[in-house]
Amino acid sequence: MNSRLDLSFVVSYRHQIFFTENAFAAKNNILKELVGVAKVLPIIDAGVVASSPDVVTDLIEYAKVNQLKLTRAPMILTGGEESKKDQAVVNAVLSAIEEDAICRHSYVLVIGGGALLDAVGFASSIAHRGVRLIRMPSTTLSQADAGVGVKNGINAFQKKNFTGTFTPPYAVVNDFAFLKSLSPKNLRDGLVEAVKVALLKDPEFFKSLESDSRELTAGNLTLINQCIRRSAELHARHITQGGDPFELGSARPLDLGHWVAHKCESLSKYRLTHGEAVAIGLAVDVLCARELGLFSKSDSERVIDLLVRLGFKLYAAELDINNGDLLMQGLEEFREHLGGQLTLILPTAIGQSTQVHELSRGVVKKVTAELQQRFSSCAALS
Ligand SMILES: NC(=O)c1ccc[n+]([C@@H]2O[C@H](COP(=O)([O-])OP(=O)(O)OC[C@H]3O[C@@H](n4cnc5c(N)ncnc54)[C@H](O)[C@@H]3O)[C@@H](O)[C@H]2O)c1
Ligand SMILES: [Zn+2]
Repeated sequence: MNSRLDLSFVVSYRHQIFFTENAFAAKNNILKELVGVAKVLPIIDAGVVASSPDVVTDLIEYAKVNQLKLTRAPMILTGGEESKKDQAVVNAVLSAIEEDAICRHSYVLVIGGGALLDAVGFASSIAHRGVRLIRMPSTTLSQADAGVGVKNGINAFQKKNFTGTFTPPYAVVNDFAFLKSLSPKNLRDGLVEAVKVALLKDPEFFKSLESDSRELTAGNLTLINQCIRRSAELHARHITQGGDPFELGSARPLDLGHWVAHKCESLSKYRLTHGEAVAIGLAVDVLCARELGLFSKSDSERVIDLLVRLGFKLYAAELDINNGDLLMQGLEEFREHLGGQLTLILPTAIGQSTQVHELSRGVVKKVTAELQQRFSSCAALS
């Protein structure tokens, strides 16, 4: 005889994001109050150490003054997409968690770009089925988006983020001081996620990006900080209040431009950064929305114009490899990654969007040909 026990339960999460400058200044009490007397395994992105070597001694000194229990001198791990390309970083972090006896009430503290945060976050989420993670994102893109979300993962089978989990961090500390050492390219990268989220959710923010574009492009850190803060807030609010934090449905409402971006990044063997690829993806998606009659020509040109003014190249050869077939494969991979029905988010106005369940090869071909015609000579200069 069949029987069924059907129970439901709710788990509540807290998502704390701090904004600060110089988290390791002796009197800054954010980290001290977060970790208390628990053990902390510190990990730093080698790119951060290369451009700001003092970060290591600053953290050690802060720990001494504030009696933080670091389990070792900070592990310095290669950052960038390299850290997600295989299991090496994940295994190194798992070994350190085991060696240092990090338990579910201790902390992994990671300072780095979105890629290293993703890899260390994945390791932390599977060790003991999840140890506490404090993320300190060190790039504009990770402070504006990657670091303030609940996802992590590494690449596999030539697919971005194939292996990963949805695991909210214990806390995120956005320290603006890290941004001072970024290359102009990495400084610009985070702006594209701000453009994306403004286009999806906040017309006033979009307008401010337009009016500040010259200063943002020139690297005005005060304005960049403001822009990151708003972007982080919009992303985090959507994730925590949008109704589907772990993406159980078929939609990915923040992933405008990302089906193209993920495919272009892997086709380019990560020559294109995530930010550069998202800019191209946004251009493709806004023009597709225009072609489908969803988005006006004038609004689509506002988006293209803003991206160009921020210094992004809107065409890359990856859009056309094998006559666009590989790009279309990206659409299929996106569907597979979401599971179920293909669901793309496309803009209908600045600050508004809709879901679309089909995108024809003809529309994509037309749009990529337009981008090639308008922007390929700019791309050749980069
Ligand atoms: N989990 C998510 O929700 C999510 C969201 C968006 C993007 N991502 C992922 O984030 C990654 C991109 O992250 P990113 O744009 O931060 O780039 P990144 O992590 O690849 O870092 C870029 C480079 O900057 C270096 N770097 C980091 N901080 C620095 C600093 N303060 N000074 C100097 N150099 C520094 C790194 O070592 C690396 O070489 C991609 O893998 C993308 O898939 C994840
Ligand atoms: Zn992104």
